Amino acid sequence: MSTDPVVIAIDGPSASGKSSVSRLVAEALNFRHVDTGSMYRAFTWKVLEAGIDPANKEQILDLMKKGRFECDFIEGGHGLRLRTRLDGIDPGEAIRSPKIEQYVSQVSAIPEVRAWLVQKQRDLADLGDLVVEGRDIGTVVFPKTPFKFYLDADPKVRAQRRARDQTAAGFSSGAAVESVQNAIAERDRKDSTRTTSPLKVADDAIRIDTSLHTPQDSADVVLKHIRSRYLERK
Ligand code: DC
Repeated sequence: MSTDPVVIAIDGPSASGKSSVSRLVAEALNFRHVDTGSMYRAFTWKVLEAGIDPANKEQILDLMKKGRFECDFIEGGHGLRLRTRLDGIDPGEAIRSPKIEQYVSQVSAIPEVRAWLVQKQRDLADLGDLVVEGRDIGTVVFPKTPFKFYLDADPKVRAQRRARDQTAAGFSSGAAVESVQNAIAERDRKDSTRTTSPLKVADDAIRIDTSLHTPQDSADVVLKHIRSRYLERK
């Protein structure tokens, strides 16, 4: 019988369906849900709020050392979800703005920022079982977990989803799906070519193409894989 926390790693590029699927999996298993992208977004929000140029590494590292960055879990309507507060403020939906999308890859490529947030992500496992979504969860943050999934979808489908999410979050710029698709492609390029922990598929990850599936269908595939192995382990 193992008492180690179970960590389910769900990686993939932007708008691959990670968030919806991770939420459903966490809810079904009664695990905490950690959206690591929201941590990188929240810190990028703080950088911009502080009037710092996202290219100014020195000032960014200074902000990182001086500020208070707190993570806890709150009831999110579908189980426990991560809340991030910076110097006591939860930026909420502001982290989903196109402006944050524009700069988050640049800020999250800084190795010191990654090391700092990766440690915080690992610490969350002290609280119990987790579903963790991101880009480097199965490769870097929790490489030893046996539960690794890599979600992907057709670029056009991803762009349609992202445009819809932005409209729902109140950030509709009326941008055509094509321009959203270009912005996503650029972010993917930066996320997968950075030197420190780039987006890539872990060798032992199970790949799921979500293009033609509902989030519930994809979550069911993940749950099917987990249930047998999880029961074996516990
Ligand atoms: O999943 P997302 O779109 O909310 O992620 C926002 C950005 O954060 C993404 O472009 C790259 C970065 N990120 C990362 O570098 N590593 C992670 N584990 C999660 C996100």
